[in-house]
Amino acid sequence: MKVLMVCLGNICRSPVAEGVLRKLAKDKGLQLQVDSAGTAGYHIGSHPDKRSIKNAKKNGVDISNLVARKFSVNDFDNFDRIYALDANNLRDINHLARNENDKKTTDLLLNALFPAQNKAVPDPYYGFEKDFEEVFQLIHAACDKITDELIKELK
Ligand code: 4NP
Repeated sequence: MKVLMVCLGNICRSPVAEGVLRKLAKDKGLQLQVDSAGTAGYHIGSHPDKRSIKNAKKNGVDISNLVARKFSVNDFDNFDRIYALDANNLRDINHLARNENDKKTTDLLLNALFPAQNKAVPDPYYGFEKDFEEVFQLIHAACDKITDELIKELK
């Protein structure tokens, strides 16, 4: 199973989602390949935002080595599930979808936690440390649920 996390810059939210999902899967013995990407190319090649690295580290997740890349249409071929962190990211990736099958792989990350509520993980880029902590906790709760459900599904 391969899962891709997508936000705007691939430096604040989706690297946290990548690191958290990878760690939870490992801790629970679930075989999962995880990656992340951004819908925008501004930060291609950059490590995550220092504030995301620091907050994730505080919560036991090391994302310091991740490197930003841009979402590409090929990702639809390479991933079973593609989670967008907010509605703009979902709109942008669905815009690149070639068919209904591609669209079926996409959803908002927080719909895993709050079904059909279409909630966003807020963009913390212009925020403060408390915003990064809120982002981490939302992502962690969603990834905890996703991994539990995958374990049941794949049994
Ligand atoms: P992300 O946050 O989408 O969670 O990585 C952002 C990072 C950079 C920018 C916006 C959001 N930016 O405008 O450069």
